[in-house]
Amino acid sequence: MSQEFTDYVKSSFGPKATPKARRILTSLIQHIHDFTRENHITVDEWMFGVDFINRIGQMSDARRNEGILVSDVVGLEALVDTLTHASDSVGHTSSAIIGPFYRDNSPEYPYGGSIIQKEVGGEKTWVSGIVTDTNGKPLAGAKIEVWHCAPNGLYEQQDPDQPDYNLRGTFYADEQGKYAFIGLRPTAYPIPYDGPAGDLLQMMDRHPMRPGHIHWRVSHPEFHTLITQIYDRDCKYTKDDSVFAVKDDIIVDFKKVASDDKELGDKGVQNRLDYDIVLTLEEEIQKTRASVVAKHKSIEEELEAHHKAIADKIAKLKA
Ligand code: BEZ
Ligand code: FE
Repeated sequence: MSQEFTDYVKSSFGPKATPKARRILTSLIQHIHDFTRENHITVDEWMFGVDFINRIGQMSDARRNEGILVSDVVGLEALVDTLTHASDSVGHTSSAIIGPFYRDNSPEYPYGGSIIQKEVGGEKTWVSGIVTDTNGKPLAGAKIEVWHCAPNGLYEQQDPDQPDYNLRGTFYADEQGKYAFIGLRPTAYPIPYDGPAGDLLQMMDRHPMRPGHIHWRVSHPEFHTLITQIYDRDCKYTKDDSVFAVKDDIIVDFKKVASDDKELGDKGVQNRLDYDIVLTLEEEIQKTRASVVAKHKSIEEELEAHHKAIADKIAKLKA
């Protein structure tokens, strides 16, 4: 069916559709129709797609988000993350995808506390730094949430052998903006691949591995909440991430703890990571995003006018 059919579907919206729904769904309909025509999708192939989408829902629950996983293996979450921050001013820490394993309300620990509730192997690591604004001013009280998986490749909610909230923690930067915690040097792990996301990987003949990484969510009143990850430079998957989320400026170097560092040595800590975090004011972010908002508004006005012209024409024909 031709573009005429697509235009007919696009013109079917009623007057109560919001400008945003009209803009986004009009575009979605156009792209889906183009994709279907381009690939000459048959009824069997369409049904395969419908089953695939249904399976994404059936596999998802509070512990597993297959929708995010499927987005990730086709690079969609990475693309959305990059687009969201494309216009942001520079000078602050880069964002990264949140992934499917964030949990809020992780236990609060004091400066230097350990997020390892149960020994699960791996190399203990001292992670420390300072949280500042883009002018280098320390952000006392910044809330730092971190989470990473165990050396067996599983986050605690995937693993009945780990205690609730193992390898997750919340810290608050002190008066000088300083924070520190003990975690593990992160290990590479496969994303869950026993569902639709894994089927896609198999169809594309790809591995499911993510590089060793630690997730962060850093917030402070009036500042834009930073969601990011750090990646271990020494991990081979840092150059070959199954979800395409690595950015050069968030690759980090873990260092071995000096043999004469008695304080960390006594705690069984083998590595250290110095990592400073820079946040930007929310107001700054919103300023730089204004041009995108304006562009969308102008598309929405155009669509609204188009819709109104068609509705007037139909009303005249009916009269
Ligand atoms: C993660 O970083 O935890 C993650 C990201 C994408 C897919 C699966 C896991
Ligand atoms: Fe992860």
